[in-house]
Amino acid sequence: MERTLILIKPDGIQRQMVGEIISRFEQKGLKIVAMKFLQMSSELAEKHYAIHKGKGFYDELVSFITSGPVLAMVLAGRMAVKQTRNLMGATRPEEATPGSIRGDHAMFTGQNLVHGSDSDENAEIEIANFFEPSEIVNYDLATGSWIG
Ligand SMILES: Nc1ncnc2c1ncn2[C@@H]1O[C@H](COP(=O)(O)OP(=O)(O)OP(=O)(O)O)[C@@H](O)[C@H]1O
Ligand SMILES: [Mg+2]
Repeated sequence: MERTLILIKPDGIQRQMVGEIISRFEQKGLKIVAMKFLQMSSELAEKHYAIHKGKGFYDELVSFITSGPVLAMVLAGRMAVKQTRNLMGATRPEEATPGSIRGDHAMFTGQNLVHGSDSDENAEIEIANFFEPSEIVNYDLATGSWIG
């Protein structure tokens, strides 16, 4: 079962869209296995966005993600990275398909509501940045036994 790190970014918290965003992942069938509401430090932000260091938007990215609290969660399920990224929609909200989180609710690339890991490898690195292994809960959902 694959896992991914999802963040509801500061704009999602400020717009009180936590429930709306979590619902979409739950309704799809992803399982919440860890969750934490936190204010990210610059140190954690720099670690999380290390792959973007050197890009023109890096400083803005770190500054925005630390501008207010975020909700971090680990979601698990079949092809979790791909499924969550489809639900999130394209990075640029003007390119995100209606029906996706960004397509329905975001206007700006810098404030696109959610982060989702982009590969299984990065997911494991990102999860470890936010959660201790003991904070990730191992349990079964009835739907987990369905064959896919
Ligand atoms: N050209 C840009 N200008 C401003 N912000 C950008 C730009 N490109 C990306 N970003 C911001 O940086 C984040 C990380 O970029 P990335 O290319 O990893 O997109 P993503 O994988 O779709 O989004 P995320 O990593 O947040 O899930 C984007 O979500 C967006 O908020
Ligand atoms: Mg990304």
